[in-house]
Amino acid sequence: MKTMKAVCIYSYGGPEVLTYEDAPRPHPGEGEVLVRIHAAGINPVDWKIREGQLKEMLHHTLPLVLGWDVSGVVETLGTGVHRLRVGDEVYSRPDIFRDGAYAEFIVIKEAEVALKPKSVDHLHAAVLPLAGLTAWQTLFDAAGLAAGQRVLIHAAAGGVGHIAVQLAKWKGAHVIGTAAARNHDFLRQLGVDQMVDYDTERFEEVVQPVDVVLDTMGGDIQTRSWKVVKRGGILVSVASPPSAELATAHGAQQAFVFTQPNAAQLAEIAKLVDAEKLKAVVETTLALSDATRGQELSQRGHQRGKIVLRVV
Ligand SMILES: NC(=O)c1ccc[n+]([C@@H]2O[C@H](COP(=O)([O-])OP(=O)(O)OC[C@H]3O[C@@H](n4cnc5c(N)ncnc54)[C@H](OP(=O)(O)O)[C@@H]3O)[C@@H](O)[C@H]2O)c1
Repeated sequence: MKTMKAVCIYSYGGPEVLTYEDAPRPHPGEGEVLVRIHAAGINPVDWKIREGQLKEMLHHTLPLVLGWDVSGVVETLGTGVHRLRVGDEVYSRPDIFRDGAYAEFIVIKEAEVALKPKSVDHLHAAVLPLAGLTAWQTLFDAAGLAAGQRVLIHAAAGGVGHIAVQLAKWKGAHVIGTAAARNHDFLRQLGVDQMVDYDTERFEEVVQPVDVVLDTMGGDIQTRSWKVVKRGGILVSVASPPSAELATAHGAQQAFVFTQPNAAQLAEIAKLVDAEKLKAVVETTLALSDATRGQELSQRGHQRGKIVLRVV
């Protein structure tokens, strides 16, 4: 049996349950491809799954390889694969119900795989699928963000936030972002029109009404966000489902998005990257064997842009 290096968990818990080991190399079935991973993005969902926070929802069987953000090269094709070829450079946010990408190989359904942007390396492509699809599915699918609208993006300097800012600007929106002061130059460079320092300002006191709030934080930040949503506007969260009662009370809409794989949207995102309308910022690059450190950094909650694991 062929093996591969992988980072797995055998039980839920702290960073110490991450195991860097030799694991069986998976085989592609019908409609699937085997991808040789070059880089894997780290996302908060990885350590939330490691801690068991999502076990009632996802019902994973352990051991489980973590990580659902990947860029690599198609190694072999399963039966019935027609769109992709061996050697294609691809990226994906693969099915979160299956083994992930902290590994040398992953099997992915063809329908979840797109050609990666040509103009960036695997390290920068690997951090785009999950954050890019999250931004796309919240701003465009759920909120229908349009040119000229105003959008408030919480945690604008983070993994999802810094991509959402750029997609909203591309759409022609007026973008307001919250971040600590040390990130304000970064946000300005991304095109944010108004920065709010969450340490010294209460956003609901300094932000004029908006059409869309993208909530990545939940809790008190989500509740306070209702104060800035216009009547007829929408609060979209990826942190926790917003209150339907509060939405009605404010004459607004609400939505919760759990990001889904989508190769067609990844193809659109790749076009934007190659047209230099969108770029992922990688602040930290680590070896696959350093996944524990990557998760610890992510879990501190003050990452600018993305953390990536280099596999090749
Ligand atoms: N439902 C879904 O499908 C889905 C998909 C993607 C992400 N998510 C969730 O969305 C959240 C964000 O994900 P992410 O990848 O963007 O995380 P991330 O990259 O770890 O976010 C870190 C950012 O959060 C900012 N931040 C921390 N506290 C803040 C505050 N009080 N106000 C404003 N910004 C603050 C930090 O900025 P400073 O350094 O300036 O503090 C940092 O830039 C996570 O909980 C994740 O699990 C859910």
